[in-house]
Amino acid sequence: MKKLESRQDIETLVNLFYNKVRKDDVIGFFFNEVAKTDWNNHLPKMYAFWETLLFGKPIYKGNPMAVHFPVNAKVPLEKHHFAHWVKLWTATVEENFSGEMADLAVYKANNIAALMGHKMEVARKSTTD
Ligand code: HEM
Repeated sequence: MKKLESRQDIETLVNLFYNKVRKDDVIGFFFNEVAKTDWNNHLPKMYAFWETLLFGKPIYKGNPMAVHFPVNAKVPLEKHHFAHWVKLWTATVEENFSGEMADLAVYKANNIAALMGHKMEVARKSTTD
């Protein structure tokens, strides 16, 4: 199968992933209804995010954690949502790519999702106490 090695590959992967996400029964509504995501704005950010994470290109300038707190404040972003996000991401990677970068994409997503899930839980506790 194809190696994950170029900006074009990242765009393909991210597009296929969010095509799944937007139609997904478990997490699609966070984008479609809670955040009312503007996909023309979101997708290029995600290309940059993954290009920075995987290829070390310093083009993503955002704060990936920060944007999830207001979503979490409206509707809890729970651990099972992150587990599902990772399941969709892993399936999309593995259906299309193989090799070291593909493995790294899955590995990094797992780590960030775990950290994000934890931070969202902590944020919910600190606002309800
Ligand atoms: C259930 C899990 C998740 C949900 C529901 C979710 C939802 C969202 C939403 C609604 C946005 C804002 C989009 C907009 O502009 O409307 C966003 C942005 C973003 N998400 Fe997530 N997310 C999840 C997990 C993750 C994970 C695991 C990662 C990283 C591996 C991630 C990385 C990002 C990044 C980089 C942005 C863009 C931040 C920026 O504006 O610079 N998300 N996400």
